[in-house]
Amino acid sequence: MKVGIDLISFYTPQYYLDLKTLAGERGVDPDKFTIGIGQEKMAIPPPDEDIVTMAASAAHPILEQAGREGIELLLFATESGIDHSKAAAMFLHGLLKLPTRCRAVELKQACYSATAGLQLAASMVAAQPDRKALIVGSDIARYDLRSPGEPTQGAGAVAMLVTANPSVLALDPETGLYAEDVMDFWRPNYREEALVDGKYSMRVYLTALEECWKQYTERSGRQFHDLARYCYHLPFTRMAEKAHIRLAKIAALKELTSAELETEIGDSLRYNRITGNTYSASLYEGLTSLLDHGADDLVGQRIGLFSYGSGCMGEYFSGVVQPGYRDHLFTARLRALLDGRTELTYRQYEDIFQLGFPTDGGDHAFAQYRTGPYRLAGVSQHKRLYEKVI
Ligand code: CAA
Repeated sequence: MKVGIDLISFYTPQYYLDLKTLAGERGVDPDKFTIGIGQEKMAIPPPDEDIVTMAASAAHPILEQAGREGIELLLFATESGIDHSKAAAMFLHGLLKLPTRCRAVELKQACYSATAGLQLAASMVAAQPDRKALIVGSDIARYDLRSPGEPTQGAGAVAMLVTANPSVLALDPETGLYAEDVMDFWRPNYREEALVDGKYSMRVYLTALEECWKQYTERSGRQFHDLARYCYHLPFTRMAEKAHIRLAKIAALKELTSAELETEIGDSLRYNRITGNTYSASLYEGLTSLLDHGADDLVGQRIGLFSYGSGCMGEYFSGVVQPGYRDHLFTARLRALLDGRTELTYRQYEDIFQLGFPTDGGDHAFAQYRTGPYRLAGVSQHKRLYEKVI
């Protein structure tokens, strides 16, 4: 029996900062951002949007299409948690009106945890094929102003329905894992912005990739040429290019031409280039981008996926694209969202960045910005208040 992703939906906020604007403000050559790190725009959530509203907006079209029946597992992957105790999954469960007979929990391991969620969900469905799982990854990537990480900020959420006999991607059972306790990127509980040892984080990412690939190939017997396309965790698109060039070298003893690089990973990078890092969602944003943009029919093709979360945890796995997958994508909806976004000035970006969340326990109603179908209406007595917009 096949198990995997039946539906996948990506959401990103409706505001962005053009990195050329940021480069101008920071006195940096714009090519450093657009070519050197490979990013054009970064998504900025307005004050009435958070990880819960983004996750709900990502999941909304899935529930419209597939309904709620049979969803017995809700896993919320994030490293931008809003509460030390209550899982973001509980807020989401309420907003989406999911069945009460459901196991709902939040998962954390930097940008990796949505993959843990996907694999846990696949195990549950393999054991109980009539059950379904909803996995979301939702994050806001935030670094200090004027730090090297600043141009790699972004925001977004992915939602995936995991079922038996999936419509989009059937997962292969073999995976390669790599866990190591390192300090390449972290965010202590008292900080809003991540801390990062940037160059070191890139080296650890590549080490994790090599180690995961080794185990994946040992277990599956597959080689580089058995995979038609490759998706990577995307802190910025140049990282995926560096990773893929490295993988080709160690796995196939091959120097990739730029045409091969474009064919093998190009389509998976298009969304990330204009949203920025979406942390736990980013690998799956890449998968969505590949499926949405692929001019070729990918039916029957095997896709390789590398998930990486600093700290660090890596996993290499793969899946096969299913017949009719294009009929199950939400391409037009996402394109309309991306095409209709509002550009921010530098001043507006910094004003939103500096806006602190009220912590005085009072009643605060939040001004209404452009959001998806759900928004954060305010906070009262330390309780976040969400509402459906449409
Ligand atoms: N034109 C074209 N390219 C230029 C250029 C110009 N004018 N100026 C510089 N560049 C190139 C540089 O040569 C460099 O390319 P190479 O890496 O190929 O040499 C690239 O632009 C970046 O320049 P720097 O190395 O000088 O950049 P930096 O030190 O200011 O910052 C960074 C780069 C370390 C990635 C920083 O953005 C950062 O810390 N980001 C956050 C951490 C991160 O994303 N790490 C990735 C791995 S960890 C992970 O994946 C988890 C996660 O999501 C965070």
